[in-house]
Amino acid sequence: MNIPFREDSKFCSFFPSSKSFLAIIVAILLSTCSLSWAQDSTAAAGAAPAGAAGGGDAAKGETLFKNNCAQCHAPTDERIVGPGLKGATTRNNIQWITKWVHNSQAVIASGDPYAVKIYNEYSKAQMTSFPNLSEDDIKGIFAYVDKAGAAPAPAAAGAGGAAPAAGASQSSGPSDLFMIVLVALVVVMLLVLGVLLVIVTILSKAVSGGDTETAAKGDFMSRLGNSLKGIAGDPAIRSATIWIFILLVMKVTIDGAYSVGVQQGYAPKQPISFSHKLHAGEYKIDCNYCHTGVNRGKSAHIPSANICMNCHGVIKKESPEIQKIYTSIENNTPIEWVRVHNLPDLAYFNHSQHVNVAGLECENCHGDIAKMEVIQQRSSLTMGWCIDCHRKTDVNTKDNKYYDKLVQLHASDSKEALKVADIGGLECSKCHY
Ligand code: HEC
Ligand code: HEC
Ligand code: HEC
Ligand code: HEC
Ligand code: HEC
Ligand code: HEC
Repeated sequence: MNIPFREDSKFCSFFPSSKSFLAIIVAILLSTCSLSWAQDSTAAAGAAPAGAAGGGDAAKGETLFKNNCAQCHAPTDERIVGPGLKGATTRNNIQWITKWVHNSQAVIASGDPYAVKIYNEYSKAQMTSFPNLSEDDIKGIFAYVDKAGAAPAPAAAGAGGAAPAAGASQSSGPSDLFMIVLVALVVVMLLVLGVLLVIVTILSKAVSGGDTETAAKGDFMSRLGNSLKGIAGDPAIRSATIWIFILLVMKVTIDGAYSVGVQQGYAPKQPISFSHKLHAGEYKIDCNYCHTGVNRGKSAHIPSANICMNCHGVIKKESPEIQKIYTSIENNTPIEWVRVHNLPDLAYFNHSQHVNVAGLECENCHGDIAKMEVIQQRSSLTMGWCIDCHRKTDVNTKDNKYYDKLVQLHASDSKEALKVADIGGLECSKCHY
């Protein structure tokens, strides 16, 4: 067997005509943009229950502290909104502290001198009341404070942030991965093909006795050069290459068409450099504290400047970013946050149904917000994305009487768990007005 040689073929004849050359360029261009636009359907189904199991007193106290107190108190001497809690149990006994935590305003109103003193010292900032914490809970919190406060300085920075945050990890989308694997495969295949052909030519030369001129020269490089010319000239290889590129272009174009209007990855600059990483991550402020609608209604709500003032009335007043909040309040003009997530008007989405009834975590749909310096849209928010989750996710029927009868009926004719799809989650009218 002999590979046909074409002496005139140069290496660039690998690109047989200007048309397919164009196609290749387009393919490369498109594939680079598709890498950043590709859909990310990793949004985890099924809620990941957060929260640590309580161990000893201090361990339980740590959870309570981080969930309730850390946004205003450090376990050290450091002052955040309120005083550092280190040594608080030596300043007052646990009964006093319990009364204080249950309702600090009542203690102040009773004229307790210490209470009045710190209240004034902290510019009359009101501490949240926690009537539901028992004395044991509070003892646990201070057992933790004693432990954490005794730790060396670096722990101070961990006023809440040091704990490994629970939550769904976000990876890059499978579509990105798919494209990379595809391209890599094509490259590897071409390489293997090339090497095989080189071997075949060299072998066939050797078999034909080495009496030809090329073989006589014997120089490896020239043989390699010739084989490459051979490969480039081979019509079968040429057309295979062209087809691979055509298929790539098609895949990329179709992907591109599906991502029209999809704002995934959108992360606009906001008027104030408000950081979720700092507030929700490090200081563990509950999402609910600012997004007050998530459990109650359709919209999650963006907090008004007054909510910021609960803390920034005292914290970092001098910072130019915080001054913008003051300006907004003085001028009575709202802060003009740039909206990130936005469904078209034809679709209906309700937060309380998903957060309160279904018990989903924010991370399921928004990614790990508590790690974001600037908010970014992580999910595609396409219809396919909604439907996909409704097909896969079990309805949270636990302790929900509304579903008891439905679960019974469902169990009588199916062994599968009750999915959102089974309760009408795929009906057009549920999501479209
Ligand atoms: C919204 C912010 C905020 C939260 C949340 C908060 N505190 Fe406070 N706390 C304060 C402020 C401010 C003061 C200072 C007194 C004042 O202005 O009312 C204070 C004072 C205290 C004091 C007295 C400090 C001292 O040195 O004697 C204790 C004890 C205390 N808080 C415990 C707690 C505990 C325990 C929790 C969590 C269950 C908690 N606080 C949650 C803001 C807060
Ligand atoms: C201290 C208040 C505060 C807390 C706590 C907070 N947020 Fe926000 N959030 C904001 C503000 C202000 C904006 C608007 C500015 C921006 O986009 O960064 C916002 C924007 C968002 C947006 C984007 C809204 C849009 O325009 O589409 C999402 C999603 C979000 N927050 C989720 C969360 C989640 C999840 C948590 C809890 C882990 C959380 N937030 C905690 C104040 C807060
Ligand atoms: C529960 C308390 C709390 C609330 C509510 C809160 N913040 Fe903060 N914020 C903090 C703390 C604590 C810091 C860190 C201060 C520091 O670094 O010393 C901070 C820091 C900041 C900073 C960085 C300031 C700088 O110059 O370093 C900005 C900007 C900011 N907050 C904006 C906001 C906005 C806007 C809101 C309202 C949507 C808000 N915050 C609501 C507690 C709060
Ligand atoms: C099932 C998915 C899902 C879950 C879970 C979810 N969100 Fe959303 N979120 C969305 C969608 C979809 C939008 C866009 C809504 C629109 O444009 O009408 C959105 C929008 C927002 C906005 C912008 C304001 C608004 O309401 O349009 C904020 C803020 C927000 N979410 C916060 C949260 C917080 C905080 C949580 C957790 C307590 C949460 N979300 C849980 C899907 C979700
Ligand atoms: C992470 C999974 C998840 C995603 C993503 C999701 N949903 Fe849901 N959805 C649920 C669950 C779980 C329920 C069931 C809640 C319940 O028990 O009523 C639900 C229920 C609903 C319902 C009520 C259905 C009924 O029969 O009562 C509507 C409407 C809805 N979702 C709309 C949407 C829209 C619109 C989107 C996309 C923008 C979306 N959902 C995205 C999980 C999801
Ligand atoms: C779980 C919620 C959900 C269900 C069920 C659902 N849709 Fe949608 N649909 C959406 C969302 C969200 C969008 C907007 C996002 C987008 O454009 O991809 C959308 C977009 C559309 C659009 C595109 C409109 C445009 O301007 O691009 C059409 C058409 C549509 N839906 C028809 C239907 C039909 C027909 C059904 C029933 C067979 C249905 N949908 C069921 C959530 C849903």
